[in-house]
Amino acid sequence: MRTRVAFLGAGRIARALAGGLLRNEEDSWELVASTRTRESGETFGRAFPQARLYPEERNRDLVQESQIIFLCVKPQEVRGVLQQIRPATAGKWIISVAAGISLAAMAAEVAPSARLLRAMPNLPSLLGRGVTPYCLGPGWGADDRERAKKLLQRFGEAVEIEERFFPLLTVLVGCGPAYFCAFLAPLFRFAAESGLPAAAARRMLLATFSGTAELLKQTSLDPSEAVQESRTPGGITHAALTILEEGEWQETLRRALDAAWSRAKTLEKT
Ligand SMILES: NC(=O)c1ccc[n+]([C@@H]2O[C@H](COP(=O)([O-])OP(=O)(O)OC[C@H]3O[C@@H](n4cnc5c(N)ncnc54)[C@H](OP(=O)(O)O)[C@@H]3O)[C@@H](O)[C@H]2O)c1
Repeated sequence: MRTRVAFLGAGRIARALAGGLLRNEEDSWELVASTRTRESGETFGRAFPQARLYPEERNRDLVQESQIIFLCVKPQEVRGVLQQIRPATAGKWIISVAAGISLAAMAAEVAPSARLLRAMPNLPSLLGRGVTPYCLGPGWGADDRERAKKLLQRFGEAVEIEERFFPLLTVLVGCGPAYFCAFLAPLFRFAAESGLPAAAARRMLLATFSGTAELLKQTSLDPSEAVQESRTPGGITHAALTILEEGEWQETLRRALDAAWSRAKTLEKT
């Protein structure tokens, strides 16, 4: 039997999650999604032509007709959406990926029998290569806990973890792909400006970075040790890293992480 899954909010992360869900077993899931504007829905619809799309005014109907609800709106929109759907939430699984919205804040807005799950997925969920830290609200039975974990494993690794870590995990896991890609973008530009054909550059740079990630994964090598492995004194890597160090790039990155963490913690308190 097909399970109907509703995405309330069908933007960036909803597209990644829907793609992860539909990866191999398209027949198991029936997707419905709602957005605020038509344009947003059309982008989702182009990616998933089998999904049925609705305007936000129909959120409650979507919840009524679905077993599993992914709440993928921006944090400031969560409470309003929960108040709108409240009468339809009894017994439903409500999975929120919104940064800064606690299980307790959600529980105050939905039917007591709704099963709440808070998650912080990331973009590689699209390929089943993401990681999803999650925590559960009260009332989940043992079988449903297992089913919920299996559902999240469609997106990659699923890690149950205490809710107090969520602001930090937002900074590291949710935002992580953006740091990596921000670092990668100038390397792509440099390769293009220096005359390497774009396809070859893309292939080799991505292989270099995914191979390095795999190296760290499969060995006990710490990233700082790995730097020293490729940094021969007086060598070419050394020349590059010296410039980065003169620019105090590690301190800059640290300030960026502190800023993100502080923002995530503030959001959690509002
Ligand atoms: N992006 C990520 O990598 C990522 C990772 C982890 C968690 N998250 C969390 O995911 C949530 C969404 O982020 P995003 O990056 O996907 O944002 P986004 O691309 O702006 O998507 C938000 C979606 O919500 C829709 N929406 C707004 N109000 C709505 C309503 N009342 N009912 C139904 N849909 C409504 C928007 O429609 P319109 O476009 O028409 O306004 C849009 O489709 C945030 O809470 C964020 O913390 C994001």
